Amino acid sequence: MTTNRNEAERALTERVVASFAGTPDQRLRTLMQSLVRHIHEFVREVELTEAEWMAAIRFLTATGKMCDDVVRQEFILLSDTLGVSMLVDAINHRFATGATDTTVFGPFYMSSMPDRAYGENMAATPGTPALVHGRVLSTDGEPVTDAVLDVWQTADNGMYSGQDTAQPHGNLRGRYHTRSDGSYAIRTIVPVSYPIPTDGPVGRMLEATARHPWRPAHLHFMIDAPGYSTLVTHIFDEDDPYLNSDAVFGVKPSLMVSFPERSPDDALAGSFGYDGPFREARYDFILDRR
Ligand code: BEZ
Ligand code: FE
Repeated sequence: MTTNRNEAERALTERVVASFAGTPDQRLRTLMQSLVRHIHEFVREVELTEAEWMAAIRFLTATGKMCDDVVRQEFILLSDTLGVSMLVDAINHRFATGATDTTVFGPFYMSSMPDRAYGENMAATPGTPALVHGRVLSTDGEPVTDAVLDVWQTADNGMYSGQDTAQPHGNLRGRYHTRSDGSYAIRTIVPVSYPIPTDGPVGRMLEATARHPWRPAHLHFMIDAPGYSTLVTHIFDEDDPYLNSDAVFGVKPSLMVSFPERSPDDALAGSFGYDGPFREARYDFILDRR
């Protein structure tokens, strides 16, 4: 009897898979048939109850309702916290080219942020002053002179401008441009660790599974230059306590930097207008030719 039931269940899976056999787009056919096989296998493996099925429907409905067109994308957050975003990243950057490692884009990028001069301060809110600087180079070591570095980080309260409407427009965001030697310089504050948003279904999932929502301190970069592939990455503070338990699994060792303290007597202080102690992080980004 049980065997007959199992056979009927397997036959159902095969009927659904076969229903996609006529999909004209070959890639879409592969995606749909594989998706059906994996979802059916999951349901079989855990012997999903009807109540659990309904809970999943409610969870996905709530996830969709939490999305808006500007700053909140709960489905990306779900993909990030399930490690899917980083798996897609890994599969699509499998072969080492010498370029800087990539990581998650995250949901808090905003386009059309202010263009910033070399060394301009992008922090309008308080924090520990920091200089983040270095060069943008090609994989063969040539300076990339006309790169745009779109940068974003949270304020000391752990929130991004846009997400936190009390912050001034463009706070801790900006588009920096490299100079002729490929150099860039950003006056900012030392990034802080912060929790991803927990007021939606993803937050409830983290709580129910006893996972924390924290991300280690980082700055986001999206770097574009003519003739090069766009680089989406972060730099992480190498002293952060959450480096080994990032809620979205985005840390790669090559992206960690130190923020040593510099005194106001340091030559850099004069060049960048610091009149007190500040932290310095140096990082060179390497772009892949397209
Ligand atoms: C972020 O770093 O901004 C981020 C990334 C993934 C999920 C939530 C936030
Ligand atoms: Fe972030």
